[in-house]
Amino acid sequence: MIRAAITGTSKYLPTRILTNKELETMVDTNDEWIVSRTGIRERRICADGEVTSDMCTIAVKRLLKSTGISANEIDVIIVATVTPDMLFPSTAALVQENIGANKAWGYDLSGACSGFLFALKAGAGLIATGSKKVIVIGADTMSSILDYTDRNTCILFGDGAGAVLLEPAKDNTHGIIDEILHIDGTGKEALFMAAGGSRKPATHETVDAKEHFIYQDGRSVFKRASADMGAVSKEIVDKNGFKSEDVKLFIPHQANKRIIDMAAKRAGLRDDQVFLNIEKYGNTTAGTIPIGLTEAVEEGRIGDGDLVLLAAFGAGYTWGATLLKYGPERKATV
Ligand code: ACO
Repeated sequence: MIRAAITGTSKYLPTRILTNKELETMVDTNDEWIVSRTGIRERRICADGEVTSDMCTIAVKRLLKSTGISANEIDVIIVATVTPDMLFPSTAALVQENIGANKAWGYDLSGACSGFLFALKAGAGLIATGSKKVIVIGADTMSSILDYTDRNTCILFGDGAGAVLLEPAKDNTHGIIDEILHIDGTGKEALFMAAGGSRKPATHETVDAKEHFIYQDGRSVFKRASADMGAVSKEIVDKNGFKSEDVKLFIPHQANKRIIDMAAKRAGLRDDQVFLNIEKYGNTTAGTIPIGLTEAVEEGRIGDGDLVLLAAFGAGYTWGATLLKYGPERKATV
């Protein structure tokens, strides 16, 4: 089977920073509580009028620039998001127009915090069946669905986007090795947005009842996330005949530093094998993993052929892990 290789990465974070100190003026919380319970110090928030497709477009333009490919070489655009600009048309269509990807098709995918891993699997499947260049984006404007008077949720999330270029790998020294993905609808009451879909279309009552914001039972999510993300990470490493020390870098979904620490411990990974940027961005939902991957490459923590483990957990419940050998990076020739 033709493996899909990640040959380029990029990110976009809005410039506006919302610090824990600023949140203290908005809800009954404090910096010490947020840092000790979550590891988050600040998050990025979109400017007024800045939306998910804008973040995706900038990330993809950066990706095209760094890899040196042109927009009309793109076959497919997949956008993982739970905060599309609108229910339809898809964010992928808006990005396609913005970048002028004249030969592409594409779609949005809803997998919440696991969305990027689900989209990566879809993209890898398309590479296996003949597509040559697939752009996979994870992006969310969480500020658009947060109630900034609810301290249980508003402190956790931020806005951001990351994108990767998938191409056929030439041999087994690069590319996605395996993916283990799960969905379990029994989690539907622990993390959801009640209104705005076909069950409860928007009415004055749904707006008054704040049903267009995220609701979560943090403790239930925390328990499942730390257990399942750790278990699936260990499973994928063992299943493919590797040892935990073979993993150059573990890039987990950034929801809570305590969840990450517990998952890494369960998977037998040392602290220096774990990538963290939650301090700066909080939880950008589908954005965390591609943003993390981009920063890990920028910081030189992963390079050509390195074994990288990705893992996520989110609403649904959804969760999973992906094991890959990074690169070979495509570099623009100037
Ligand atoms: N500031 C100050 N105090 C707070 C805040 C806040 N922002 N939020 C809650 N508290 C209070 C609670 O009211 C409670 O007070 P009480 O004991 O008087 O009732 C106390 O702090 C402890 O509350 P817990 O909910 O038990 O705190 P916990 O340690 O579980 O941390 C948190 C809460 C951070 C939400 C945690 O449960 C969590 O991270 N859960 C996972 C949620 C998540 O990440 N969701 C994102 C999507 S899914 C994913 O990405 C994995």
